[in-house]
Amino acid sequence: MSDIYDKIMDLAKRRGFIWPTSECYGSVAGFIDYGPLGSMMKRNIENIWRRFYIVQEGYYEIECPTIGQEDIFIASGHVKGFSDTMCQCPHCKEYLRADHIADAHHISGASTMKNEDLAGVVCSLPCPACEEVLGPVEVFNFNLMFQTSIGPGLQRTGYLRPETAQGMFTDFQRLLRFYRDKLPFGTVQIGKAYRNEISPRQGMIRLREFTQAEAEIFVHPEGKNHPQFSRYTGYTVPLLGISQQRENLPPVIYGMGQAVKEGIVANEYVAYYLALTHELLVTIGVNPEKLRFRQHLPDELAHYAEDCWDAEIFSDRFGWVETVGIADRTDYDLRAHERQSGERFSVFIPFETPMKEQRVRVVPNMGALGPRFRGKAKEVADSLCASAPGPDGVTLTINGEDVLISPDLYEVREEMVEIPGIEITPHVIEPSYGIDRMIYAVLEHTYHEEMVEEEERRVLRLPPSVAPLQVAVFPLMNRDGLPEIAWELAEEIRRSNIIAEFDDSGAIGRRYRRQDEVGTPFAITVDYDTKEDHTVTLRDRDSMRQVRVPIEGLPDCIRSLIEGNRNFAEL
Ligand code: GAP
Repeated sequence: MSDIYDKIMDLAKRRGFIWPTSECYGSVAGFIDYGPLGSMMKRNIENIWRRFYIVQEGYYEIECPTIGQEDIFIASGHVKGFSDTMCQCPHCKEYLRADHIADAHHISGASTMKNEDLAGVVCSLPCPACEEVLGPVEVFNFNLMFQTSIGPGLQRTGYLRPETAQGMFTDFQRLLRFYRDKLPFGTVQIGKAYRNEISPRQGMIRLREFTQAEAEIFVHPEGKNHPQFSRYTGYTVPLLGISQQRENLPPVIYGMGQAVKEGIVANEYVAYYLALTHELLVTIGVNPEKLRFRQHLPDELAHYAEDCWDAEIFSDRFGWVETVGIADRTDYDLRAHERQSGERFSVFIPFETPMKEQRVRVVPNMGALGPRFRGKAKEVADSLCASAPGPDGVTLTINGEDVLISPDLYEVREEMVEIPGIEITPHVIEPSYGIDRMIYAVLEHTYHEEMVEEEERRVLRLPPSVAPLQVAVFPLMNRDGLPEIAWELAEEIRRSNIIAEFDDSGAIGRRYRRQDEVGTPFAITVDYDTKEDHTVTLRDRDSMRQVRVPIEGLPDCIRSLIEGNRNFAEL
């Protein structure tokens, strides 16, 4: 099958965007290398992501290790439950994702079926690798985490992190102090995550090592109104809610204010990040016609989550691909780490004016308890303080033995106490982006083929802020001093922090095509007139229009075009 995916992967390999890793040893599925242009494009997309989350939202970035100790992943539930259903083809011996086989044959609910039921379903389906009918197979769970040991020998189990999120949870107390003990606050992390995917056959879509960009926003459980919600109240996004999915209807375009008001989206925070994600994805070059937000159905929603939406991007080869998850994870993660570590993961919220409350306090009579209970007197006293005695006393369990404590051994006092505030466990709103899937989507959506002067032109219409090369500089001829002028111009542009490629080989038309194919938005040609009037030709990739502009001020002109402060048509 030769489709747009094949064309893009061919271009990506040929032109230095992406290629399989360690090809000299035969590569390993699920791992890729970013070549020179791919690395630059990836960094540009990550920096646009930072512009939204760090510059706009004010959530600072942290960087945690990619290997974590076992406790982290016991707490998070990954050790116990982070697995996919697997079976092995009895004919070709290939390991397969059992739920994916069922999904591919439109059998619904595979991801939530019991293993025995799934085995009953897949036995009549063909193996996706060798196409033989599978027959009776065992379906079992395969944990997706890569396990390792920390230090020599097998002293300490560690795991390669399956998501960047956990570091931001385990750092909670330090972050809280950094943000001066006030909610809401957020933190972000961009980095590698690892999942030992069972059969990664989908190129950049399913990798064993991939890059995530995640934000964890810690909010008061009763304060899920985003302080800047007005920014996106009227912003419209296609929502495929639970009811549209159940009734097989297309997405509905909702303003975010309306979606919250009608209870389609759980709260302003989730709605805010749906809109921000839409804006971000369109900014990097995703076609808005091929973007929708799908709500998790009750049977796929994690039991602790209040609401979860996936930004899904349509790909010709893969259909709708989950690329970003936006979830209200409640207090699940912080409470889980509190239980596992024994440390505090809560925030003290002071009341504006301290509350007064009538409280009953049990005061042990140590003069009487001491002689009666001797070595156990302190234990009895501590239990008494935490008890609620009745008129005839209270029965306490001390060292497994029930002991009746009569009212003469304590005093019950009613006191007015001042309560300065309460201790709460914040809820977490999490937008989680897969950078590699975003890159693939942008390549696919910006790739175009067209006939120009009876020749095929392949062009990546990448936004200038995403394109790996921002401008190309060509001398029209390789003589008469033109290369020297062009080189000096390229150097001047580079001094302005713009990535400028110098190219003096081949016919000028070929050079334009080479740049079009990698998405370079602008090209400058130095010709004989340049020597006379100090002007050059500036060409726009998309319209192929050319205008004559002065060399003086050219770096500033290019910068304003790249940053979108100026339009090529205005030149
Ligand atoms: N902290 C939440 C979390 O990790 P997720 O839905 O498992 O949620 C978030 O992952 C995003 O990471 C996905 O939407 C996807 O874009 C990306 N992702 C997950 N697994 C991936 C894989 N095997 N290869 C490439 N990207 C992946």
